[in-house]
Amino acid sequence: MMQADHQLQSKVLFLALLLLLMSFTCFLLFPDNYFRLQKQRLPHNAYVPQQVHISLGRDVSEMIVMWVTQHKTDTVVQYGKVSGELSLSVEGHDPVFYTFDPYVSGVIHTAVITGLQPSTTYYYKCGGLSGWSEEFSFTTAPKVGTFEVVIGTVGDMGTHSSSRRLAEVIKLHPELQMFWHVGDLSYADGKQPIWDVFGNMMQSVIASLPYMPLAGNHENANIERSFSPFALRYNMPLLTSYTGGDPERYYYSFDFGSVHFVNLDSEHDYAVGSAQYRWLETNLKAVDRKLTPWLVVGWHRPWYNSNWVHQGEAEKMRVALEELLYAHKVDLCVTGHVHAYERSHPVYKQEITPDGPVHITIGTGGTPEGLVNSWMRRPNWSVVRDASDWGFGRLQTFNATHAQWDFFHNDETIADSFMLVRQRPAH
Ligand SMILES: [Fe+2]
Repeated sequence: MMQADHQLQSKVLFLALLLLLMSFTCFLLFPDNYFRLQKQRLPHNAYVPQQVHISLGRDVSEMIVMWVTQHKTDTVVQYGKVSGELSLSVEGHDPVFYTFDPYVSGVIHTAVITGLQPSTTYYYKCGGLSGWSEEFSFTTAPKVGTFEVVIGTVGDMGTHSSSRRLAEVIKLHPELQMFWHVGDLSYADGKQPIWDVFGNMMQSVIASLPYMPLAGNHENANIERSFSPFALRYNMPLLTSYTGGDPERYYYSFDFGSVHFVNLDSEHDYAVGSAQYRWLETNLKAVDRKLTPWLVVGWHRPWYNSNWVHQGEAEKMRVALEELLYAHKVDLCVTGHVHAYERSHPVYKQEITPDGPVHITIGTGGTPEGLVNSWMRRPNWSVVRDASDWGFGRLQTFNATHAQWDFFHNDETIADSFMLVRQRPAH
């Protein structure tokens, strides 16, 4: 009997040691992932909204509100112009969830507030009788045509300490009216709980600042679900019916004050004559430069990159689309993907061209893959390149011809700054 007890004790001890060793090995190999996965569980109260964020709707009178709950519950947004007096309410669409074996997502809610006035601050909370979020506020987009707007942008964030710091730095800029993410949001790469971590990390920024993301390569889950977790969680205006499912496309455009933004998709077909190409051609032709004199285009993989990393990767896309952007007098192109900052002169077909667009690569959102500082010999079109810190960009338009661009480091200093002057009449 004593011997059997002793054997049992030894087995338990052995198993405990094995578990301890496995945990320690996980920690050594993947320290950030290890702690992240420990924290991934949704909050204890399964009915309280989390991962709250807003996006611009089809025009300035709409705001899309999205959030996640662990269990199915109501989809309601209460809102109003006075804090604590949320007398208006809107019911959302049927919530959705997805499975990504063995992961089962939380319940993803979407509600669209309509009838909003431009440049107006509203307070809101979301959820329902089973549990409400805290109260947030947002300011609606300015009326289309308003000259002065200020927006923030970055690519390649992830959920590491550097991206958390960046989120804090962005909050130091209350002047921002919108946050434009040029791809590679969470770095989930198919590890679905990372989307939840990212959503909660970003809530304090994008529950108040309209969030306009586009697809990067890390939105691709690499198996059959592909980009749909991204699309389900970040319901880009006009791309889905707000009821979940794969959108037919990942490129879209929106007006914000004096700027017409075009979000392209470098991850799917963009060849001359493709659906994306034809859409882009039609979209650019339709821009009213009297109303939105600024034409700003974003996608993920840079055409103008003098870093050895990802060198030449987007050359096919440049060859396919550059003439179109030049012909339509695009002012500024913003991309990510390369984890560094680079700004070009106005450029077209690799040559400095005064009436060409300025290209900026800003893959400095804090990605877990680290900054890359392996520059080639500097091409003549490259003005500034910097891989010394993470940071985000701020674009501020003043009138129809002058706009200011600033690149803020995570240490809050301005690392690059220039005045973008439109070389040509608006129309
Ligand atoms: Fe990327």
